[in-house]
Amino acid sequence: RLRNPADASISQSMLDRAHNQPELPPEIARRRTFAIISHPDAGKTTLTEKFLLYGGAIQMAGQVRAKGEARRTRSDFMQMEKDRGISVSASAMSFDFDSYRFNLVDTPGHSDFSEDTYRTLTAVDAAVMVIDGAKGVESQTQKLFEVCRLRDLPILTFCNKMDRESRDTFEIIDEIQENLAIDVTPASWPIGVGRDFLGCYDLINDRLELMDRADRNKVSESIEINGLDDPKLAEHVPAEQLNKFLEEIEMAKELMPQFNHQDFLDGTMTPIWFGSAINSFGVQELMQGIADFGPQPQPQKASPRAISPDEPKVCGFVFKVQANMDPKHRDRVAFVRLASGHFKRGMKLTHVRSKKPMAISNPVLFLASDRELAEEAWAGDIMGIPNHGQLRIGDTLTEGEMIRATGIPSFAPELLQTCRAGDPLKSKHLEKALMQFAEEGAAKVFKPAFGSGFIVGVVGALQFEVLASRIELEYGLPVRFEGSQFTSARWVTGEKAAVDKFIEANKQHISHDNDGDVVFLTRLQWDIDRVARDYPDVTLSATKEMM
Ligand code: G4P
Repeated sequence: RLRNPADASISQSMLDRAHNQPELPPEIARRRTFAIISHPDAGKTTLTEKFLLYGGAIQMAGQVRAKGEARRTRSDFMQMEKDRGISVSASAMSFDFDSYRFNLVDTPGHSDFSEDTYRTLTAVDAAVMVIDGAKGVESQTQKLFEVCRLRDLPILTFCNKMDRESRDTFEIIDEIQENLAIDVTPASWPIGVGRDFLGCYDLINDRLELMDRADRNKVSESIEINGLDDPKLAEHVPAEQLNKFLEEIEMAKELMPQFNHQDFLDGTMTPIWFGSAINSFGVQELMQGIADFGPQPQPQKASPRAISPDEPKVCGFVFKVQANMDPKHRDRVAFVRLASGHFKRGMKLTHVRSKKPMAISNPVLFLASDRELAEEAWAGDIMGIPNHGQLRIGDTLTEGEMIRATGIPSFAPELLQTCRAGDPLKSKHLEKALMQFAEEGAAKVFKPAFGSGFIVGVVGALQFEVLASRIELEYGLPVRFEGSQFTSARWVTGEKAAVDKFIEANKQHISHDNDGDVVFLTRLQWDIDRVARDYPDVTLSATKEMM
């Protein structure tokens, strides 16, 4: 008989040991904070919807749909940007499953790989990777996976659209193993493909799950099976399919590694579930996997010391800032991941960067599509804090300790353009608008030491258009983006004397970012190499830590 990949060995004590941290207070231990990564169209929106449905957060599937569709075309994307309501409330969603509290953090939907995505992934403890059973590992999945790997995030895989003609199960697993260099272990195994897809055998719980095609929102029929030689299997699965399934399982047993919880937590092994999000099939098993395998809220890197989730004092960090729904008000929502403690509304926290106290009186928890005032939150939760610009990405809030979350980077932009106000007299206004977007993380803004205008840097060309439309909409300021003589930006660091000497000799290339840090602009890799050779005391870097 096939050993369960997870076997019964996943006991609570093993979980605790694997997490290698003291037993957490139950409120924290029950939190699961994760993101979904996928290639557009693989079914992220549909799966999110079903999560919320089973989490009791929405009554009917279909409420999140607008977003998936809006994402698809450029004009719709702009509309979505205007319609801030959708994107703000969908940025983080909390719902309950079983005795667990799930916090699902949305990764930005557009296909330009952005640092926004990276920063979002600094706020989660795990990721669900959704792949399309017919298409396998696609480009965007691969990129996002690499980002998860940088942080060794544990990954749970959901192979979607099994109700359609899909690839051979072994082929799919092989492709994941090869393209992503991660061990894959089946948590369920599909029976039949395409039109003949019947359901899955749940290898963890020894259950046969049969899909109901008639009602897409119905939970699958679940039949307890006492091991693979249980005659009950034959009652539900036609002989031909059953034989094929048993053969495959026999092979899988020989070829595939068994589930190892520590490897999963280390990010070197992913369990895979097969299902069909649109038919609500396989979704609950996946959710159960998130609940059972975790991980619980993890420690956060910080300076001068790391923050452990079980510390009694509250500490949180801002990983994302978003303009508020109403463009006429310059309010913004800072998304804070609580790294430790038990937060209560009205608490006065220290804003570490400015060393000033901040009363957090109207924090928001994102309960599915409704925003709700957060009366309390625990380590692992994501909270929205409305503010007028005090909170920036990378900021830390504590109960007084001067500690700063680290590991939230800013990347050098890949595209640079000069931005000018349609009305030259409005250049001060433009500066203000651009600085706000820079603090929101929507763009990099550089003020050249020489010359006029601002140089704006982004990762994907679409962002220039979104920016232009937002500046006009939110600040009533028509702007132009023009080609810039520069194509690369690097932050300059080193001893003050060395940096000053460097600035003096390279004035045409020098600018300052919105934090006032020195940036070297150039169009040639050759220039960057030259600096490395001629100024050994100065470092040019493509990333900077936000703090
Ligand atoms: P995304 O957020 O990852 O971009 O994907 P989304 O959920 O929007 O799904 C993309 C398309 O795939 C949608 O079809 C959706 O209905 C379909 N889909 C999702 N899960 C499944 C599944 O398990 N089986 C099948 N057969 N299709 C699935 P669409 O035609 O673009 O939209 P719609 O007309 O269905 O709304």
